[in-house]
Amino acid sequence: MDIKDKTKYTEYQGSPNRYDTMKYNRCGNSGLQIPAISLGFWHNFGFVDSLLNARNIMRAAFDLGITHFDLANNYGPPYGSAEENFGLILKKDFKNYRDEMCIASKAGYDMWPGPYGNWGSRKYLISSIDQSLKRMGLDYVDIFYHHRPDPNTPLEETMLALSDIVRQGKALYVGISNYNAANTERAAKILDELKVPFVLHQVKYSLFERTVENGLLDTLENIGVGCITFSPLAQGMLTNKYLNGIPKDSRASKNFTYLDENQVNNNMKKIQGLAAIADNRGQKLSQMAIAWLLVQKNITSVLVGASSADQLKENVNALDNLQFSEEELQLINNIVS
Ligand SMILES: NC(=O)c1ccc[n+]([C@@H]2O[C@H](COP(=O)([O-])OP(=O)(O)OC[C@H]3O[C@@H](n4cnc5c(N)ncnc54)[C@H](OP(=O)(O)O)[C@@H]3O)[C@@H](O)[C@H]2O)c1
Repeated sequence: MDIKDKTKYTEYQGSPNRYDTMKYNRCGNSGLQIPAISLGFWHNFGFVDSLLNARNIMRAAFDLGITHFDLANNYGPPYGSAEENFGLILKKDFKNYRDEMCIASKAGYDMWPGPYGNWGSRKYLISSIDQSLKRMGLDYVDIFYHHRPDPNTPLEETMLALSDIVRQGKALYVGISNYNAANTERAAKILDELKVPFVLHQVKYSLFERTVENGLLDTLENIGVGCITFSPLAQGMLTNKYLNGIPKDSRASKNFTYLDENQVNNNMKKIQGLAAIADNRGQKLSQMAIAWLLVQKNITSVLVGASSADQLKENVNALDNLQFSEEELQLINNIVS
């Protein structure tokens, strides 16, 4: 459907109750607060997806108090299309709410052909933020991340590019993603010398992916940087959706995603065990998986994806039960380890 087609839309007004129940956490030692649950745009917002559905998810998010929206230059598919669709929805629905939103984008993975469209050079990052701002129709993003470490570019060059992006007024804060503990410490030192507000590290962390527990989480606490966790539901495996097979239209059934049937089947025993514990707690597995992350130390926000507004609502209800008994934590660990 065309974005200009008004027949199926009513003018959007954010819910007056949107700040009543969401929790907000400070990003490390900074002044910036983001919601305990944030929304990611990796999938479900590209030109291959329904714009109407994307718009419903964004509206639901904002009404639930989700103020933090996470994008990247190459989210789609095709690359760039999630930012473009986000820009369209912003313009239509959220033009009066920009100052209530914390919008992030990133560069670091392949975006355009040739030597300047990937990794961590100054050339790439500065062109990329300009492109992202244009696609989203924004003057600035709130957070700009380097998306992954670049072993062939001096870290000083990448960090100086982030710093200059802030000085140019194109981002307010910076973050990094997928860096190990040692390189995170080095990045923090450089950014500190450059007096750039380094607020978040975006890490892959879930009941199924716990590598960050081997030092990175401690490093983030020591340097006063927040932690936002991506793929907290292991791309949908940590939900009730695959318990009875692979549904049509699920991420595991699509061929442009990074989740497939084999991964789901290989984890099925664990998924079933965890779902039973969640059930005993009166929760969906997705809710328990999010709650479990939120009780780990130094977690600022859990960055979920959703293919429908209903999924997002279900996920936010994780906040209703963040208590775990020692016995539950032990049972969970026994299953996942
Ligand atoms: N920094 C990085 O390198 C990096 C890498 C990956 C992601 N990210 C960020 O992290 C965000 C989240 O990652 P992710 O999408 O992999 O997160 P996720 O929350 O682990 O998975 C989201 C998917 O799980 C399914 N799902 C969610 N809630 C559900 C529910 N209540 N019931 C049933 N199924 C449910 C949906 O898939 P279906 O389509 O099957 O319904 C949804 O798209 C991304 O959007 C992106 O912003 C960052």
